[in-house]
Amino acid sequence: MKYEKHCQFRVKIEKTMNLYLFSLFVHITGISVAAGTTFVSFLVNRRFWQAYGTNRVKALTLVELSSRFPRITGLGIGLLLLSGIYIMYLTKGAFGEQLWFRIKMVLVILVIIINIVINILEKRVKGMVTAEVNAAGLQRKVTTYYLVQLVLFLTIFVLGVFKFN
Ligand code: HEM
Repeated sequence: MKYEKHCQFRVKIEKTMNLYLFSLFVHITGISVAAGTTFVSFLVNRRFWQAYGTNRVKALTLVELSSRFPRITGLGIGLLLLSGIYIMYLTKGAFGEQLWFRIKMVLVILVIIINIVINILEKRVKGMVTAEVNAAGLQRKVTTYYLVQLVLFLTIFVLGVFKFN
């Protein structure tokens, strides 16, 4: 009887461990998709401004390409939120007490807001190209939001890995 209970307990632990590792796998996949597309989108955006004003066809192609990235980033952030909440559920909220996690949650909210802002600005850039107007200051604004977003992601990585407490 005792041995049976022990086996049941071991199976339960292993199941939770597998779910935990799977959630961490989804979490890391979400990080790669979200931060990866933000970085590529930033590079394409820089290329766009270099082409804008000299090569309209190239600028239009680049703006068309980058217009999809914020949605893919949103998908990555969705994976992060779902897997993160599930890790918290499996660990009974243990990480919630820790300093790194509390700071991280503030930064995660900023990442979500800035992703929405970048999405709006990318739409404005597209409108600007099709209407052939030069929206002064738009380049500086878009570049600034991308740089802030990349710094936020890097800071969250440091918090997630070093877990200051
Ligand atoms: C922009 C969103 C997010 C990013 C970039 C991010 C990034 C990270 C990184 C880099 C790690 C370290 C992974 C490792 O140690 O292998 C981590 C761990 C973790 N994250 Fe997130 N995360 C995000 C959102 C969330 C959310 C919304 C939650 C919970 C509601 C969450 C909960 C956790 C937990 C509990 C861990 C520790 C897992 C462990 O060390 O075993 N994360 N995250």
